[in-house]
Amino acid sequence: MTLDEVKIIQLPKILDERGNLSFFENEKHIPFAIRRSYWIYDVPGGEVRGGHAYKTLQEFIVALSGSFDVVLNDGKEAKTFTLNRSYFGLYVPKQIWRHMENFSTNSLALIVADKAYDANDYIRDYDSFVKNKN
Ligand code: TYD
Repeated sequence: MTLDEVKIIQLPKILDERGNLSFFENEKHIPFAIRRSYWIYDVPGGEVRGGHAYKTLQEFIVALSGSFDVVLNDGKEAKTFTLNRSYFGLYVPKQIWRHMENFSTNSLALIVADKAYDANDYIRDYDSFVKNKN
């Protein structure tokens, strides 16, 4: 996988004077079926999350509140995606190194994934990630 497979996806936005509503559905708005959801919150200023890739896992990341940066790297180049609207999400295919940083106060990151949690699916050594990619 390369950064070409990464996608910012604009989600439906139902504007309403009572408050807006956005949503996504398996395979219609995101390119996989959801098996797991998790969220990252109460991140102290300056902290960095992630710092790994997944062998097989695909994810979709939405900033439900606040903002943060997702830095993706395919072993050749790196790109930073700033998420700061709840109606945009970032699709991250398997085998892309990532970390998340610059979390704003009270930011809330929702991540949906196509598989259950599996520690064996993590690639935590950056050098072997790059070696495998090339
Ligand atoms: P990790 O994925 O390493 O966090 P990050 O990449 O954001 O820094 O996960 C941190 C801890 O949480 C680790 O002990 C595994 C556990 N965890 C689960 O049990 N289930 C999950 O769905 C996730 C994402 C993590």
